[in-house]
Amino acid sequence: MLKMKEEMYNLVELLNKYSYQYYVEDNPEINDTQYDLLYKSLEKLEKEYPELILKNSPTQRVGDKVLKEFDKVIHTQSMLSLSNTFSIEELYDFDNRIKKAISSENIEYVCELKIDGLAVSIKYENGILAQAATRGDGEVGEDITENIKTIYSIPKELNIKDNIEVRGEVYMPRKSFELLNKSREEQGMTLFANPRNAAAGSIRQLDSKITAERKLFAFIYSFASENNFSQLESLNNIQKYGLPVNNNFKSCKNIEEVIEYINYWDKNKNNLSYDIDGIVIKVNNKDYQKTLGFTQKSPRWATSFKFPEEELATKLLDIELSIGRTGIITPVAILEPINISGSTVSKASLHNKDIISNLDVRIGDTVVVKKAGEIIPKVVKVIKELRTSDSKVFEFPTNCPSCNSKLVYEENNPFVKCLNSMCIEQNIKKVIHFASRDAMNIDGLGDKIIYSLFENNIINNIIDLYSINKEDIIGIERMGEKSVSNLLDSIEKSKNSTLDKVIYSLGILNVGKKAAKILAENYNNLHNFINADYEELINLSDIGDITARSIIEFFEIDNNKVLVENLISIGINPVYSNIIKKDNIFSNKIVVLTGKLEKLTRNEAKEYLEKYNAKVTGSVSSKTDFLIFGEKAGSKLEKAQSLGIKMLSEEEFIKIIEEEN
Ligand code: IVH
Repeated sequence: MLKMKEEMYNLVELLNKYSYQYYVEDNPEINDTQYDLLYKSLEKLEKEYPELILKNSPTQRVGDKVLKEFDKVIHTQSMLSLSNTFSIEELYDFDNRIKKAISSENIEYVCELKIDGLAVSIKYENGILAQAATRGDGEVGEDITENIKTIYSIPKELNIKDNIEVRGEVYMPRKSFELLNKSREEQGMTLFANPRNAAAGSIRQLDSKITAERKLFAFIYSFASENNFSQLESLNNIQKYGLPVNNNFKSCKNIEEVIEYINYWDKNKNNLSYDIDGIVIKVNNKDYQKTLGFTQKSPRWATSFKFPEEELATKLLDIELSIGRTGIITPVAILEPINISGSTVSKASLHNKDIISNLDVRIGDTVVVKKAGEIIPKVVKVIKELRTSDSKVFEFPTNCPSCNSKLVYEENNPFVKCLNSMCIEQNIKKVIHFASRDAMNIDGLGDKIIYSLFENNIINNIIDLYSINKEDIIGIERMGEKSVSNLLDSIEKSKNSTLDKVIYSLGILNVGKKAAKILAENYNNLHNFINADYEELINLSDIGDITARSIIEFFEIDNNKVLVENLISIGINPVYSNIIKKDNIFSNKIVVLTGKLEKLTRNEAKEYLEKYNAKVTGSVSSKTDFLIFGEKAGSKLEKAQSLGIKMLSEEEFIKIIEEEN
């Protein structure tokens, strides 16, 4: 037995060493067949002696956990994004801004490849992989620990027993992507558009066995935990921990060297075995990074350079009209599918009627399509030389293709609008926006389900969402009991959204997330907001004439006012509090207080919870997330116990408050 134990230990050590050489160092000492032989011998021994299976055995990476849903993870440090530059001029602007802020002409930059995958944050405790999360909305991500554990290039144990958190990108190499799509095609499954989508789809699998079958890799590029490392030192240290670093990084003495690096990789990017979508340029010096700091969304000390996207010619098969949530009708080009920089493009935006006439685009034409920084590609040119006699001029219709009401054409305005607030397609788009992640974040309410709810006459508008019954929707889009009750729970939970999210979710033209935050800060509640006047609005910093007018016009439409009044009456009436801090465990949760509290008054406890955006209710039900109990708690405590609801004594609750403050 002892001998077996030793043999298994040696095999595990050896296999882990080889897999590190293969996945992290990209320099294997042995070939695949030799590796497979060793792996099989270990598997055989483990089958015979399951009690001796070692935790760090490579066989344990196959993923054996099936989750019901992902837990939420609150990021200790927000996961920000990067600002983008698209031209050499913009890069010089970036360099000049930095030189000015630092008052120095000598800025050292570290250039790295911008791996086209999905961002992850990984925590190690005492050197052991403890938790991994997706970016989510930057503040709260999803717990993907089990899936991350199936990725060979990410060690489950570090070389040094430290507590660290690192950030990196999980990606799927092109070859694995092709093989995956080939096998999906054979099985009649939908194909992934590009390796990034395939990687994202693979990491967000509730069954980690599926993730384990997809060949995912990762590169780590920074620490999220506090340190005083320059970027070069960070990369060095990340490597020392045994974590995979992409070795194509380069230190550049000035912006000219950065440009050389960019040009080199623009020419050579296709020789890599994985997709990159640009170059990341980071100020190396940590003190400089601190001086430069962050904007709301991204560090000022870094930027990404996006490679110019390819332009390709294809046939314009048709022009369809898409009706947006604000009633604007956008023409969409339906194209003969082409592959641009790794993704299949079959639709492109034509923006508005003037673009169609200025470009003189006709159905049947050969057009040039470009995919620049934006997600939706656009038609940039018509190759007139290739026009055939059967090409057809596109006439913008006089009536809405969805509700048939007369469309509004204004002078000097290229955007054609449908003003019918009962227009179904418009209302569908409103609900899609309302439910989206940055708005009310209603989990499980995707586009397909929304379309079905409208088709089946279950809802006609946003407010109807809040009176959906279980019986109405069972069976829709093959939803069973469980998914229906999850969906109804998320609809209910959305009632606890913050004021800025509710304002954003209304879908007012020109009111994005940033404007919604400013409006929430200044108007405090929905009632004040619907009564805002133009003068007041344009006097707010960062709200200009266009946004102010959009808001006024929005509330001039009676139905929109009624919508907000209805939201208020069903209990969606958040109050902006400038003392809202980061999310904590009570955010968006339903909490019940019971019994006699000793150290806090009921109101103090309630105020505290509401500050974190929790909803305090009077009775315990299966929807309750927490019960906080004091002395002589009676039936509510028993009920919560029987429902398995998380319970906190007053003392435990106070401890959480104290830790927060
Ligand atoms: S640094 C504050 N370095 O690009 C964010 N990001 O918008 C700092 N990415 O999805 C990010 N390769 O995961 C950095 N070498 C690299 C990167 C990289 C890919 C991704 C990142 C995020 C996006 C940034």
